[in-house]
Amino acid sequence: MDEHKKLRIGIVGTGGIAHAHMAPYRTYGDVEIVGACDSVPGKARAFLDKYGLTDTPAFEDVRMMISHVAMDGASVCTYNTTHADCAIALLEAGVHVLCEKPMSFTLPEAADMVRASRKAGKILTIGFQPRFDYMRKKVDAIIESGALGKVYYVQSGGGRRRGIPGGTFVNKEKAGFGCLGDIGCYSIDECLHAIHYPKPLTVSAIATDYFGRNPKYWPEADSFDVDDFSVALVRMEGDVTFLFKQSWAMHVDTLGDTLWLGTEGAIKVCNAVDEHNKPSRVMFYTDVNGSHIDAAVLPTLPFDPAMGEMPVDMWDAKMRSFVDAVIANGPAPVPCEEILYNQAICDGIYRSSQLGKEVEIVIPNL
Ligand SMILES: NC(=O)c1ccc[n+]([C@@H]2O[C@H](COP(=O)([O-])OP(=O)(O)OC[C@H]3O[C@@H](n4cnc5c(N)ncnc54)[C@H](O)[C@@H]3O)[C@@H](O)[C@H]2O)c1
Repeated sequence: MDEHKKLRIGIVGTGGIAHAHMAPYRTYGDVEIVGACDSVPGKARAFLDKYGLTDTPAFEDVRMMISHVAMDGASVCTYNTTHADCAIALLEAGVHVLCEKPMSFTLPEAADMVRASRKAGKILTIGFQPRFDYMRKKVDAIIESGALGKVYYVQSGGGRRRGIPGGTFVNKEKAGFGCLGDIGCYSIDECLHAIHYPKPLTVSAIATDYFGRNPKYWPEADSFDVDDFSVALVRMEGDVTFLFKQSWAMHVDTLGDTLWLGTEGAIKVCNAVDEHNKPSRVMFYTDVNGSHIDAAVLPTLPFDPAMGEMPVDMWDAKMRSFVDAVIANGPAPVPCEEILYNQAICDGIYRSSQLGKEVEIVIPNL
């Protein structure tokens, strides 16, 4: 990028989450929004107008936008089943891409996205803002230090008691996945990024829809056609076992704690919230000369002598890291190659659930 020029950014898909992309972009002095596009007629125009960008062109088709507007980077904020088509069109046109999560619906689509990024030599980063959460970074750093020894078991927890999101999230044609693609992909990333995403080998899984299909819990039960709960046992390279659970709705407060068990120590993220709705607590466990040590990992924020503790906005960090990566021409803050394993696990979970048995996880050749 010319250092005197602002970064030219386009936004593809102008529904709910596009506003959360636009808002930080508008605060960056080195970014200019040069276009927006949505397949619903008039939607991109109304979106741009809302931000006072009345002279910025709006389109109904990503390829039309590509042919009319020069872009350095773009946010893909469409629903899941059109991520691949839009991202690949942009990458092939030489545009760096920040694609919302999940990376895609199908595994072949995800592989094509990685290939397009490599071929074009352009960034494809996936919108996992929890990567920038300061407590999560602490967990990653503790594991990276080797304090846990060899990590042999990882378990996701959490889940929502009542949290079916509605809209395009519960429409198979648009979302592809249900809970698995909406919040399951975050859990997989939280658990496996911390241990550098070992290669997944096999999975035995079940995905169900008991709450979404019940009018007592979901008003549009008749049209609900995605998963709302899934559980999976994943065998991974390096003798690592991953127990995955995720839920949009259930009759309990949490599916448990998030765990990393190692030969020298363990980390537990307590997912149950207390009556004051306090955020999750992180514990580190180890053994010193036969004594059991249980230590709380304190949420100490980055400290500035003049300002004191500095709050960390993980959403802003996600957006800014993309902008900075485009300026530097890479690397991608959340590389698509890494998230391919996340997609391969989701693909395996669905196949295993449909077949009712353990299946091999397919890792596409790139
Ligand atoms: N990172 C997060 O915290 C977070 C939060 C919410 C949603 N998301 C993700 O963002 C994506 C969008 O979610 P949303 O809530 O904004 O959905 P939405 O349905 O409100 O918006 C999606 C928009 O994309 C448009 N669209 C679909 N296909 C298109 C295409 N080929 N070309 C142009 N426009 C197209 C639709 O018309 C719609 O306006 C989803 O993948 C979702 O998982 C991420």
